Amino acid sequence: MSINLLKYLHDFYTYFRITLTAPPKIYFAPFQGITTQVFRAVYARHFIGVDKLFTPYFSNFEPGCKLPPRKLTALKNQFENGVEVVPQVLSKNADEILWLAKNCEQMGFNELNWNLGCPYPQVASKKRGAGLLPYPVLLDEVLEKVFSEINIAFSVKCRLGYASADEQKAFVPVFNRYPISELTLHARIGKQLYSGQPDMEAFAEALTLIKQPLVYNGDIFSREDYNQFTSRFPSINLLMLGRGVLRNPFLPMLIKGIELPEDPKTQIRQFVDELYLAYREERDDNPSVLNAMKEYWAYLAESFDDPLRVFRKIRKAKKFTDYEEAVADIFDTFKWEESDSSSPQKH
Ligand SMILES: Cc1cc2nc3c(=O)[nH]c(=O)nc-3n(C[C@H](O)[C@H](O)[C@H](O)COP(=O)(O)O)c2cc1C
Repeated sequence: MSINLLKYLHDFYTYFRITLTAPPKIYFAPFQGITTQVFRAVYARHFIGVDKLFTPYFSNFEPGCKLPPRKLTALKNQFENGVEVVPQVLSKNADEILWLAKNCEQMGFNELNWNLGCPYPQVASKKRGAGLLPYPVLLDEVLEKVFSEINIAFSVKCRLGYASADEQKAFVPVFNRYPISELTLHARIGKQLYSGQPDMEAFAEALTLIKQPLVYNGDIFSREDYNQFTSRFPSINLLMLGRGVLRNPFLPMLIKGIELPEDPKTQIRQFVDELYLAYREERDDNPSVLNAMKEYWAYLAESFDDPLRVFRKIRKAKKFTDYEEAVADIFDTFKWEESDSSSPQKH
């Protein structure tokens, strides 16, 4: 058989395997300052395809005291348009975690997620987030106490390590001793932050070690990226998507093969307009609404044909009217590019 025929048969097989296997479950990753309660609610009203929404992390609260009103508002809904919301905690203190878990349980949440992935030095240097990964004994102590008292599911979001992916050889066996409901793994180490590529070799090694249901996270920006990932890791059917969904809110639909609306650009416009109005209402027209929209547009701009010019227009806005004019101009002038090349069903 010729090499070409073999390659053709392989591509044919891969195409059918991906098309015929059940679509993955997709979780929308948390983003401090972006995936707020308002954002989650508006997103879930406009788009389908996401199976769980995660809150940005909660930290620095005082066990025993009441949750402050701002945090209570951030935990307002356990479901957004039918999609489950999972609160997240950043802490190295079992009592703090358990106290938030109790509050979440009383509010009707089914799961609490533990952030062991935050890579930023001001967090990690205090042995929190990814900074706790090099300390398996501490991890063990926290997990033992948490699992002795918690009444809701407890999941973990982590990286391959903080300073080296070798750390996983010590912390994964600790995780394996506990009934962690799901383990989300971002395939970088903490020190990388978001630079460079995900380390898929180290991820493949992790896959052989981890006993809990494994959720993959890292750099899936298109249907094509998903196809490549799933050809290499066909056993993984849980994905957490972050920047890819911020850029292209239709990404979960594209990955699941759900037909896009006839005019996706108009739906994106309706979504950002509603988000803006919802923030204005929530914040009583406080100018901080512009900052929130600018943070989000830093990602959404990437899905237009000239991201730099699109974002510059938004960044310049100093007043609500400037912002509204910039948005109108962007939707009139620029092409929204994300619905095609990677879509299985282009309309
Ligand atoms: C600005 C920003 C804020 C983030 N906030 C959180 C957070 O609160 N909790 C968390 O677990 N991860 C947080 N992350 C990480 C993302 O949830 C996600 O893991 C990361 O973007 C990698 O996934 P992706 O490659 O699909 O974007 C944040 C990332 C960024 C860039």
